[in-house]
Amino acid sequence: AAWLLAREYRSRHDLGAAMRATAARLEGAFTLVAMHREHPGLVVAARRDSPLVVGIGEGEVFLASDVAAFADNTRHALALGQNQVVAATPEGIVVTDLAGRPAEPEPFEVDWDPAAAQKGGWPSFMAKEIDEEPAAVTDTLRGRLDGGRVRLPELEGLLAAGFSVRKILILACGTAYYAGEAARHALEAWAGIPTSVELAHEFRYREPLVEEGTLVVTISQSGETMDTLMAARYARERGALTLSVCNTQGSSIPRESDAVLYTRAGPEVAVASTKAFVAQVVALLLVALHLAGRVPQTGAARGGLSDLHAAAIESLLKIPGQIRTVLDTQRPAVDAVAAKLAAVPSIFLLGRGVLLPVAREGALKLKETSYVHAEAFPAGELKHGPIALIEPGRPVIALAPPQGTLLGAKMDSTVQELRARGADVTVIGQVGGVPADDGPAGSGRVVIPETDPLLSPLLAVVPLHMLAMAVAGVRGVDVDQPRNLAKSVTVE
Ligand code: M6R
Repeated sequence: AAWLLAREYRSRHDLGAAMRATAARLEGAFTLVAMHREHPGLVVAARRDSPLVVGIGEGEVFLASDVAAFADNTRHALALGQNQVVAATPEGIVVTDLAGRPAEPEPFEVDWDPAAAQKGGWPSFMAKEIDEEPAAVTDTLRGRLDGGRVRLPELEGLLAAGFSVRKILILACGTAYYAGEAARHALEAWAGIPTSVELAHEFRYREPLVEEGTLVVTISQSGETMDTLMAARYARERGALTLSVCNTQGSSIPRESDAVLYTRAGPEVAVASTKAFVAQVVALLLVALHLAGRVPQTGAARGGLSDLHAAAIESLLKIPGQIRTVLDTQRPAVDAVAAKLAAVPSIFLLGRGVLLPVAREGALKLKETSYVHAEAFPAGELKHGPIALIEPGRPVIALAPPQGTLLGAKMDSTVQELRARGADVTVIGQVGGVPADDGPAGSGRVVIPETDPLLSPLLAVVPLHMLAMAVAGVRGVDVDQPRNLAKSVTVE
Protein backbone atom coordinates (compact mmCIF):
# COMPACT_ATOMS: atom_id res chain seq x y z
CA ALA A 1 0.00 0.00 0.00
CA ALA A 2 2.85 2.37 0.85
CA TRP A 3 4.49 1.68 -2.49
CA LEU A 4 1.25 2.23 -4.37
CA LEU A 5 0.64 5.48 -2.48
CA ALA A 6 4.12 6.71 -3.35
CA ARG A 7 3.50 5.94 -7.01
CA GLU A 8 0.14 7.75 -7.01
CA TYR A 9 1.77 10.70 -5.28
CA ARG A 10 4.58 11.02 -7.83
CA SER A 11 2.10 11.72 -10.62
CA ARG A 12 -0.02 14.19 -8.62
CA HIS A 13 1.96 15.81 -5.79
CA ASP A 14 -1.30 15.92 -3.84
CA LEU A 15 -1.27 13.58 -0.83
CA GLY A 16 -5.07 13.54 -0.39
CA ALA A 17 -5.65 12.70 -4.07
CA ALA A 18 -2.95 10.05 -3.92
CA MET A 19 -4.62 8.48 -0.88
CA ARG A 20 -8.03 8.44 -2.63
CA ALA A 21 -6.55 6.83 -5.71
CA THR A 22 -4.74 4.25 -3.59
CA ALA A 23 -7.80 3.40 -1.52
CA ALA A 24 -9.89 3.05 -4.68
CA ARG A 25 -7.46 0.49 -6.09
CA LEU A 26 -7.16 -1.61 -2.93
CA GLU A 27 -9.39 -4.55 -2.13
CA GLY A 28 -10.32 -5.72 1.35
CA ALA A 29 -10.23 -4.02 4.72
CA PHE A 30 -7.73 -1.34 5.72
CA THR A 31 -6.99 1.80 7.65
CA LEU A 32 -4.16 3.77 6.06
CA VAL A 33 -2.48 6.83 7.53
CA ALA A 34 0.23 8.73 5.66
CA MET A 35 2.49 11.79 5.86
CA HIS A 36 4.87 13.26 3.31
CA ARG A 37 7.97 15.29 4.02
CA GLU A 38 6.91 17.82 1.38
CA HIS A 39 3.73 18.54 3.41
CA PRO A 40 4.71 18.97 7.06
CA GLY A 41 1.68 19.29 9.32
CA LEU A 42 -0.59 17.30 7.02
CA VAL A 43 -1.76 13.77 7.76
CA VAL A 44 -4.11 11.92 5.44
CA ALA A 45 -5.99 8.75 6.25
CA ALA A 46 -8.53 6.42 4.69
CA ARG A 47 -10.62 3.51 5.93
CA ARG A 48 -12.69 0.58 4.75
CA ASP A 49 -14.10 -2.06 7.14
CA SER A 50 -11.42 -1.16 9.66
CA PRO A 51 -11.65 1.43 12.43
CA LEU A 52 -10.71 5.11 12.19
CA VAL A 53 -12.10 7.87 14.40
CA VAL A 54 -11.05 11.51 14.43
CA GLY A 55 -10.72 13.60 17.60
CA ILE A 56 -11.01 17.36 17.19
CA GLY A 57 -9.08 19.26 19.87
CA GLU A 58 -8.11 22.91 20.12
CA GLY A 59 -5.44 23.39 17.48
CA GLU A 60 -4.92 19.65 17.27
CA VAL A 61 -6.48 16.69 15.54
CA PHE A 62 -6.24 13.01 16.53
CA LEU A 63 -6.57 9.99 14.27
CA ALA A 64 -7.10 6.76 16.16
CA SER A 65 -8.66 3.33 15.96
CA ASP A 66 -10.64 3.92 19.15
CA VAL A 67 -11.76 6.99 21.13
CA ALA A 68 -9.93 5.70 24.22
CA ALA A 69 -6.71 6.85 22.54
CA PHE A 70 -7.66 10.54 22.73
CA ALA A 71 -10.48 10.70 25.31
CA ASP A 72 -8.25 12.57 27.77
CA ASN A 73 -7.45 15.25 25.13
CA THR A 74 -10.82 15.92 23.56
CA ARG A 75 -14.41 14.72 23.67
CA HIS A 76 -15.34 16.00 20.21
CA ALA A 77 -15.10 13.16 17.75
CA LEU A 78 -16.08 12.19 14.23
CA ALA A 79 -16.68 8.68 13.03
CA LEU A 80 -15.41 8.27 9.50
CA GLY A 81 -17.71 6.36 7.15
CA GLN A 82 -16.79 3.58 4.76
CA ASN A 83 -14.40 4.61 1.97
CA GLN A 84 -13.86 8.10 3.36
CA VAL A 85 -10.57 9.96 3.30
CA VAL A 86 -9.60 12.60 5.84
CA ALA A 87 -6.91 15.25 5.42
CA ALA A 88 -5.97 16.63 8.84
CA THR A 89 -3.91 19.68 9.79
CA PRO A 90 -3.77 21.36 13.20
CA GLU A 91 -6.32 23.86 11.88
CA GLY A 92 -8.94 21.29 11.00
CA ILE A 93 -9.97 18.49 8.70
CA VAL A 94 -11.41 17.91 5.24
CA VAL A 95 -13.30 14.68 4.60
CA THR A 96 -14.12 13.36 1.15
CA ASP A 97 -15.24 10.15 -0.48
CA LEU A 98 -12.93 8.27 -2.82
CA ALA A 99 -14.07 10.42 -5.78
CA GLY A 100 -13.04 13.59 -3.92
CA ARG A 101 -16.61 14.74 -3.19
CA PRO A 102 -17.17 16.32 0.26
CA ALA A 103 -18.38 13.73 2.77
CA GLU A 104 -20.20 14.13 6.06
CA PRO A 105 -18.63 12.10 8.87
CA GLU A 106 -20.84 11.52 11.88
CA PRO A 107 -20.02 13.83 14.83
CA PHE A 108 -20.44 12.59 18.41
CA GLU A 109 -19.36 13.48 21.92
CA VAL A 110 -17.23 10.95 23.79
CA ASP A 111 -18.95 10.28 27.09
CA TRP A 112 -16.10 8.34 28.71
CA ASP A 113 -14.45 9.83 31.75
CA PRO A 114 -10.89 10.65 30.59
CA ALA A 115 -9.42 9.18 33.79
CA ALA A 116 -11.15 5.89 33.05
CA ALA A 117 -8.57 4.92 30.44
CA GLN A 118 -5.70 5.41 32.96
CA LYS A 119 -4.39 2.71 35.27
CA GLY A 120 -4.80 5.03 38.24
CA GLY A 121 -2.47 3.23 40.66
CA TRP A 122 -3.74 -0.27 39.91
CA PRO A 123 -1.10 -2.94 39.16
CA SER A 124 -2.83 -3.78 35.88
CA PHE A 125 -5.77 -2.64 33.78
CA MET A 126 -7.31 -6.05 34.29
CA ALA A 127 -7.27 -5.61 38.08
CA LYS A 128 -8.82 -2.16 37.73
CA GLU A 129 -11.44 -3.34 35.28
CA ILE A 130 -12.52 -6.28 37.45
CA ASP A 131 -12.92 -3.81 40.32
CA GLU A 132 -15.10 -1.69 38.02
CA GLU A 133 -17.58 -4.51 37.40
CA PRO A 134 -20.12 -3.13 39.93
CA ALA A 135 -19.93 0.32 38.29
CA ALA A 136 -20.27 -1.21 34.81
CA VAL A 137 -23.57 -2.77 35.90
CA THR A 138 -24.82 0.38 37.65
CA ASP A 139 -23.97 2.57 34.66
CA THR A 140 -25.54 0.19 32.16
CA LEU A 141 -28.75 0.18 34.20
CA ARG A 142 -28.78 3.94 34.80
CA GLY A 143 -31.86 5.71 33.41
CA ARG A 144 -33.17 2.50 31.91
CA LEU A 145 -35.29 1.41 34.86
CA ASP A 146 -37.97 3.97 35.33
CA GLY A 147 -40.50 3.52 38.13
CA GLY A 148 -40.34 -0.25 37.97
CA ARG A 149 -40.48 -0.34 34.16
CA VAL A 150 -37.75 -0.88 31.64
CA ARG A 151 -37.19 2.07 29.32
CA LEU A 152 -35.09 1.48 26.26
CA PRO A 153 -35.80 4.25 23.73
CA GLU A 154 -33.23 2.59 21.46
CA LEU A 155 -35.51 -0.41 21.09
CA GLU A 156 -38.72 1.58 21.05
CA GLY A 157 -37.53 3.35 17.91
CA LEU A 158 -36.42 0.09 16.34
CA LEU A 159 -39.67 -1.74 16.98
CA ALA A 160 -42.02 1.22 16.42
CA ALA A 161 -42.62 0.28 12.81
CA GLY A 162 -44.65 -2.69 14.00
CA PHE A 163 -41.85 -5.23 13.58
CA SER A 164 -42.89 -8.31 15.42
CA VAL A 165 -39.92 -10.18 16.89
CA ARG A 166 -40.49 -13.87 16.28
CA LYS A 167 -36.96 -15.01 16.80
CA ILE A 168 -33.75 -13.60 18.23
CA LEU A 169 -30.36 -14.54 16.88
CA ILE A 170 -27.34 -13.39 18.88
CA LEU A 171 -24.01 -13.14 17.05
CA ALA A 172 -20.70 -12.47 18.78
CA CYS A 173 -17.22 -13.82 19.46
CA GLY A 174 -15.20 -14.75 22.54
CA THR A 175 -16.39 -13.30 25.82
CA ALA A 176 -19.20 -11.40 24.09
CA TYR A 177 -20.49 -14.74 22.75
CA TYR A 178 -20.57 -16.17 26.27
CA ALA A 179 -22.47 -13.08 27.45
CA GLY A 180 -25.05 -13.83 24.75
CA GLU A 181 -25.29 -17.46 25.86
CA ALA A 182 -25.69 -16.40 29.48
CA ALA A 183 -28.56 -14.01 28.62
CA ARG A 184 -30.31 -16.33 26.17
CA HIS A 185 -32.16 -18.09 28.99
CA ALA A 186 -33.73 -14.82 30.19
CA LEU A 187 -34.74 -13.82 26.66
CA GLU A 188 -36.62 -17.08 26.34
CA ALA A 189 -37.98 -17.23 29.89
CA TRP A 190 -39.02 -13.59 30.26
CA ALA A 191 -39.87 -12.54 26.71
CA GLY A 192 -40.92 -15.96 25.44
CA ILE A 193 -39.00 -15.47 22.19
CA PRO A 194 -36.98 -18.39 20.78
CA THR A 195 -33.36 -17.29 20.96
CA SER A 196 -30.23 -18.81 19.52
CA VAL A 197 -26.63 -17.74 19.91
CA GLU A 198 -23.99 -18.31 17.27
CA LEU A 199 -20.32 -17.56 16.86
CA ALA A 200 -20.16 -14.71 14.36
CA HIS A 201 -17.24 -16.21 12.42
CA GLU A 202 -19.18 -19.42 11.77
CA PHE A 203 -22.46 -17.74 10.87
CA ARG A 204 -22.17 -16.42 7.34
CA TYR A 205 -20.04 -19.25 6.00
CA ARG A 206 -22.81 -21.78 6.48
CA GLU A 207 -25.14 -19.60 4.38
CA PRO A 208 -27.82 -19.54 7.08
CA LEU A 209 -31.50 -18.93 6.48
CA VAL A 210 -32.50 -15.62 8.01
CA GLU A 211 -36.22 -15.97 8.68
CA GLU A 212 -38.69 -13.11 8.58
CA GLY A 213 -39.20 -11.53 11.99
CA THR A 214 -35.63 -12.24 13.12
CA LEU A 215 -34.01 -9.68 15.35
CA VAL A 216 -30.26 -10.12 15.08
CA VAL A 217 -28.44 -8.89 18.17
CA THR A 218 -24.70 -8.47 17.84
CA ILE A 219 -22.58 -8.07 20.96
CA SER A 220 -19.18 -6.44 20.83
CA GLN A 221 -17.16 -4.48 23.35
CA SER A 222 -14.98 -2.84 20.72
CA GLY A 223 -17.59 -2.56 17.98
CA GLU A 224 -14.79 -3.40 15.55
CA THR A 225 -14.57 -7.20 15.60
CA MET A 226 -14.41 -8.03 11.92
CA ASP A 227 -16.15 -11.40 12.26
CA THR A 228 -19.08 -9.81 14.06
CA LEU A 229 -19.24 -6.85 11.67
CA MET A 230 -19.38 -9.15 8.66
CA ALA A 231 -21.99 -11.40 10.25
CA ALA A 232 -24.20 -8.38 11.05
CA ARG A 233 -23.82 -7.09 7.52
CA TYR A 234 -24.74 -10.50 6.12
CA ALA A 235 -27.88 -10.70 8.28
CA ARG A 236 -28.95 -7.16 7.46
CA GLU A 237 -28.54 -7.71 3.75
CA ARG A 238 -30.95 -10.64 4.11
CA GLY A 239 -33.64 -8.57 5.76
CA ALA A 240 -32.97 -9.02 9.47
CA LEU A 241 -33.37 -6.10 11.82
CA THR A 242 -30.05 -5.59 13.62
CA LEU A 243 -29.45 -4.37 17.15
CA SER A 244 -25.88 -3.75 18.28
CA VAL A 245 -25.01 -4.13 21.96
CA CYS A 246 -21.73 -2.27 22.06
CA ASN A 247 -19.38 -0.47 24.44
CA THR A 248 -17.57 1.87 22.05
CA GLN A 249 -19.08 4.98 20.52
CA GLY A 250 -18.23 5.76 16.94
CA SER A 251 -17.26 2.17 16.18
CA SER A 252 -18.25 0.30 13.04
CA ILE A 253 -20.79 -2.30 14.20
CA PRO A 254 -23.26 0.17 15.78
CA ARG A 255 -22.98 2.43 12.77
CA GLU A 256 -23.97 -0.38 10.46
CA SER A 257 -26.85 -1.55 12.65
CA ASP A 258 -30.48 -0.48 12.76
CA ALA A 259 -30.15 0.42 16.44
CA VAL A 260 -27.57 0.41 19.18
CA LEU A 261 -27.86 -0.19 22.89
CA TYR A 262 -24.65 1.00 24.50
CA THR A 263 -23.20 -0.84 27.44
CA ARG A 264 -21.62 1.72 29.69
CA ALA A 265 -18.64 -0.19 31.02
CA GLY A 266 -16.25 2.65 30.16
CA PRO A 267 -13.02 2.03 28.28
CA GLU A 268 -11.77 -1.53 28.58
CA VAL A 269 -8.04 -1.58 27.99
CA ALA A 270 -6.92 -5.04 29.15
CA VAL A 271 -6.99 -7.63 26.39
CA ALA A 272 -8.99 -9.92 28.66
CA SER A 273 -12.56 -8.70 28.63
CA THR A 274 -14.06 -8.57 32.13
CA LYS A 275 -16.27 -5.60 33.00
CA ALA A 276 -17.65 -5.62 29.45
CA PHE A 277 -19.03 -9.14 30.08
CA VAL A 278 -21.22 -8.11 33.01
CA ALA A 279 -22.35 -4.97 31.19
CA GLN A 280 -23.28 -7.02 28.11
CA VAL A 281 -25.30 -9.51 30.15
CA VAL A 282 -27.12 -6.66 31.91
CA ALA A 283 -27.90 -4.92 28.60
CA LEU A 284 -29.37 -8.15 27.22
CA LEU A 285 -31.41 -8.72 30.38
CA LEU A 286 -32.86 -5.25 29.88
CA VAL A 287 -33.71 -6.19 26.29
CA ALA A 288 -35.42 -9.34 27.61
CA LEU A 289 -37.47 -7.33 30.10
CA HIS A 290 -38.33 -4.72 27.47
CA LEU A 291 -39.51 -7.38 25.04
CA ALA A 292 -41.40 -9.14 27.83
CA GLY A 293 -43.41 -5.94 28.22
CA ARG A 294 -44.45 -6.23 24.56
CA VAL A 295 -45.63 -9.81 24.88
CA PRO A 296 -48.21 -9.70 27.68
CA GLN A 297 -49.59 -13.17 27.06
CA THR A 298 -46.19 -14.69 27.80
CA GLY A 299 -46.07 -13.04 31.18
CA ALA A 300 -49.62 -14.03 31.96
CA ALA A 301 -48.83 -17.61 31.04
CA ARG A 302 -45.95 -17.53 33.46
CA GLY A 303 -47.87 -16.13 36.38
CA GLY A 304 -48.08 -12.37 35.85
CA LEU A 305 -45.82 -10.15 33.84
CA SER A 306 -45.72 -7.30 36.30
CA ASP A 307 -44.64 -9.56 39.18
CA LEU A 308 -42.00 -11.04 36.97
CA HIS A 309 -40.82 -7.60 35.95
CA ALA A 310 -40.76 -6.27 39.47
CA ALA A 311 -38.91 -9.23 40.95
CA ALA A 312 -36.31 -9.28 38.19
CA ILE A 313 -35.75 -5.53 38.40
CA GLU A 314 -35.40 -5.71 42.17
CA SER A 315 -32.81 -8.48 41.82
CA LEU A 316 -30.97 -6.60 39.07
CA LEU A 317 -30.66 -3.51 41.21
CA LYS A 318 -28.95 -5.56 43.94
CA ILE A 319 -26.31 -6.96 41.57
CA PRO A 320 -23.70 -4.14 41.84
CA GLY A 321 -23.63 -4.44 45.65
CA GLN A 322 -23.47 -8.22 45.43
CA ILE A 323 -20.55 -8.12 42.99
CA ARG A 324 -18.80 -5.79 45.43
CA THR A 325 -19.41 -8.33 48.20
CA VAL A 326 -17.74 -11.05 46.11
CA LEU A 327 -14.78 -8.77 45.34
CA ASP A 328 -14.39 -7.77 49.00
CA THR A 329 -14.89 -11.13 50.68
CA GLN A 330 -13.77 -13.90 48.33
CA ARG A 331 -10.20 -12.79 47.62
CA PRO A 332 -8.60 -15.19 50.20
CA ALA A 333 -10.62 -18.14 48.89
CA VAL A 334 -9.76 -17.28 45.28
CA ASP A 335 -6.08 -16.82 46.08
CA ALA A 336 -5.96 -20.19 47.84
CA VAL A 337 -7.37 -21.87 44.72
CA ALA A 338 -5.00 -19.88 42.49
CA ALA A 339 -1.97 -21.04 44.46
CA LYS A 340 -2.98 -24.66 43.80
CA LEU A 341 -3.84 -24.13 40.13
CA ALA A 342 -0.72 -22.23 39.16
CA ALA A 343 1.34 -25.40 38.92
CA VAL A 344 -1.09 -27.68 37.12
CA PRO A 345 -1.01 -28.36 33.37
CA SER A 346 -4.77 -28.44 32.92
CA ILE A 347 -7.98 -27.33 34.64
CA PHE A 348 -11.56 -28.42 34.01
CA LEU A 349 -14.58 -26.23 34.63
CA LEU A 350 -18.14 -27.54 34.86
CA GLY A 351 -21.40 -25.70 34.44
CA ARG A 352 -25.02 -26.35 33.68
CA GLY A 353 -27.80 -24.21 32.26
CA VAL A 354 -27.19 -20.53 32.64
CA LEU A 355 -23.84 -21.23 34.33
CA LEU A 356 -22.38 -23.24 31.44
CA PRO A 357 -21.37 -20.14 29.45
CA VAL A 358 -19.87 -18.76 32.65
CA ALA A 359 -17.70 -21.87 32.96
CA ARG A 360 -16.64 -21.34 29.35
CA GLU A 361 -15.88 -17.69 30.00
CA GLY A 362 -13.78 -18.75 33.01
CA ALA A 363 -11.85 -21.24 30.88
CA LEU A 364 -11.19 -18.62 28.19
CA LYS A 365 -9.94 -16.16 30.80
CA LEU A 366 -7.60 -18.73 32.37
CA LYS A 367 -6.18 -19.62 28.96
CA GLU A 368 -5.54 -16.10 27.76
CA THR A 369 -4.22 -14.57 30.96
CA SER A 370 -2.30 -17.39 32.59
CA TYR A 371 -1.57 -19.73 29.65
CA VAL A 372 -2.96 -22.69 31.60
CA HIS A 373 -4.98 -25.14 29.58
CA ALA A 374 -8.53 -24.82 30.83
CA GLU A 375 -11.56 -26.51 29.37
CA ALA A 376 -15.21 -26.16 30.25
CA PHE A 377 -17.71 -29.00 30.00
CA PRO A 378 -21.46 -29.15 30.49
CA ALA A 379 -21.60 -31.22 33.67
CA GLY A 380 -24.21 -33.50 32.12
CA GLU A 381 -21.78 -34.39 29.35
CA LEU A 382 -19.10 -35.74 31.70
CA LYS A 383 -20.34 -39.32 31.71
CA HIS A 384 -20.46 -39.27 27.91
CA GLY A 385 -16.68 -39.19 27.72
CA PRO A 386 -14.76 -36.45 29.53
CA ILE A 387 -14.95 -38.25 32.89
CA ALA A 388 -12.23 -40.55 31.53
CA LEU A 389 -9.85 -37.63 32.08
CA ILE A 390 -10.61 -37.50 35.81
CA GLU A 391 -7.79 -38.89 37.92
CA PRO A 392 -6.61 -38.27 41.50
CA GLY A 393 -5.62 -34.65 42.00
CA ARG A 394 -7.24 -33.38 38.77
CA PRO A 395 -8.35 -29.79 39.48
CA VAL A 396 -12.00 -29.11 38.66
CA ILE A 397 -14.03 -25.96 39.23
CA ALA A 398 -17.76 -26.61 39.46
CA LEU A 399 -20.27 -23.79 39.11
CA ALA A 400 -23.14 -24.89 41.30
CA PRO A 401 -26.74 -23.87 40.64
CA PRO A 402 -28.66 -23.10 43.86
CA GLN A 403 -29.48 -26.07 46.06
CA GLY A 404 -33.13 -26.98 46.03
CA THR A 405 -33.27 -26.61 42.26
CA LEU A 406 -33.20 -29.61 39.96
CA LEU A 407 -29.87 -28.60 38.43
CA GLY A 408 -28.44 -27.84 41.89
CA ALA A 409 -29.12 -31.42 42.99
CA LYS A 410 -27.62 -32.79 39.78
CA MET A 411 -24.46 -30.75 40.14
CA ASP A 412 -24.24 -31.88 43.75
CA SER A 413 -24.12 -35.52 42.70
CA THR A 414 -21.66 -34.75 39.89
CA VAL A 415 -19.32 -33.16 42.43
CA GLN A 416 -19.62 -36.19 44.70
CA GLU A 417 -18.80 -38.52 41.81
CA LEU A 418 -15.74 -36.47 40.91
CA ARG A 419 -14.51 -36.36 44.51
CA ALA A 420 -15.01 -40.11 44.77
CA ARG A 421 -12.55 -40.43 41.86
CA GLY A 422 -10.03 -38.20 43.62
CA ALA A 423 -10.61 -34.95 41.71
CA ASP A 424 -9.76 -31.74 43.57
CA VAL A 425 -13.07 -29.92 43.17
CA THR A 426 -13.60 -26.26 43.98
CA VAL A 427 -17.25 -25.26 44.06
CA ILE A 428 -18.39 -21.76 43.20
CA GLY A 429 -21.98 -21.28 44.29
CA GLN A 430 -24.50 -19.74 46.64
CA VAL A 431 -24.28 -20.64 50.30
CA GLY A 432 -27.02 -23.25 50.11
CA GLY A 433 -25.70 -24.59 46.83
CA VAL A 434 -22.27 -25.65 48.04
CA PRO A 435 -22.20 -29.38 48.71
CA ALA A 436 -21.88 -30.10 52.41
CA ASP A 437 -19.03 -32.63 52.28
CA ASP A 438 -16.41 -30.45 50.63
CA GLY A 439 -13.65 -30.71 53.20
CA PRO A 440 -12.50 -28.25 55.83
CA ALA A 441 -14.45 -24.99 56.05
CA GLY A 442 -13.24 -22.42 53.59
CA SER A 443 -11.34 -24.85 51.41
CA GLY A 444 -12.57 -25.74 47.96
CA ARG A 445 -15.43 -23.28 48.01
CA VAL A 446 -16.05 -19.78 46.78
CA VAL A 447 -19.33 -18.25 47.87
CA ILE A 448 -21.53 -15.92 45.86
CA PRO A 449 -24.66 -14.17 47.15
CA GLU A 450 -28.17 -15.40 46.42
CA THR A 451 -29.98 -14.04 43.42
CA ASP A 452 -32.50 -14.94 40.72
CA PRO A 453 -30.93 -17.95 38.94
CA LEU A 454 -31.17 -16.09 35.61
CA LEU A 455 -28.96 -13.35 37.04
CA SER A 456 -26.46 -15.74 38.62
CA PRO A 457 -23.93 -15.47 35.72
CA LEU A 458 -23.35 -11.87 36.82
CA LEU A 459 -22.10 -13.08 40.20
CA ALA A 460 -20.54 -16.45 39.34
CA VAL A 461 -18.28 -14.89 36.73
CA VAL A 462 -16.61 -12.53 39.19
CA PRO A 463 -14.53 -15.13 41.12
CA LEU A 464 -13.49 -16.63 37.78
CA HIS A 465 -12.18 -13.28 36.57
CA MET A 466 -10.38 -12.84 39.89
CA LEU A 467 -9.02 -16.37 39.66
CA ALA A 468 -7.63 -15.96 36.13
CA MET A 469 -5.81 -12.83 37.23
CA ALA A 470 -4.53 -14.47 40.42
CA VAL A 471 -3.22 -17.55 38.59
CA ALA A 472 -1.49 -15.26 36.07
CA GLY A 473 0.03 -13.37 39.00
CA VAL A 474 1.46 -16.54 40.57
CA ARG A 475 2.82 -17.62 37.17
CA GLY A 476 4.32 -14.18 36.48
CA VAL A 477 2.33 -13.46 33.31
CA ASP A 478 1.60 -9.84 32.35
CA VAL A 479 -2.19 -9.98 32.24
CA ASP A 480 -2.59 -6.80 30.22
CA GLN A 481 -0.39 -7.99 27.36
CA PRO A 482 -1.00 -11.70 26.82
CA ARG A 483 1.06 -13.12 24.00
CA ASN A 484 -0.35 -13.40 20.46
CA LEU A 485 -3.54 -11.45 21.26
CA ALA A 486 -4.89 -8.02 20.33
CA LYS A 487 -7.63 -6.08 22.10
CA SER A 488 -9.71 -5.58 18.96
CA VAL A 489 -9.70 -8.37 16.42
CA THR A 490 -10.13 -6.28 13.29
CA VAL A 491 -9.10 -9.04 10.89
CA GLU A 492 -10.88 -12.26 10.00
O1 M6R B 1 -14.68 -6.43 21.04
P1 M6R B 1 -15.47 -7.71 21.07
O2 M6R B 1 -16.36 -7.80 22.25
O3 M6R B 1 -16.24 -7.95 19.80
O4 M6R B 1 -14.39 -8.85 21.17
C1 M6R B 1 -14.75 -10.19 21.08
C2 M6R B 1 -13.60 -11.10 21.49
O5 M6R B 1 -12.52 -10.92 20.62
C3 M6R B 1 -13.14 -10.83 22.92
O6 M6R B 1 -14.19 -10.97 23.84
C4 M6R B 1 -12.00 -11.78 23.31
O7 M6R B 1 -12.48 -13.09 23.35
C5 M6R B 1 -11.40 -11.36 24.64
N1 M6R B 1 -9.95 -11.36 24.54
C6 M6R B 1 -11.79 -12.27 25.77
O8 M6R B 1 -11.25 -11.88 26.97
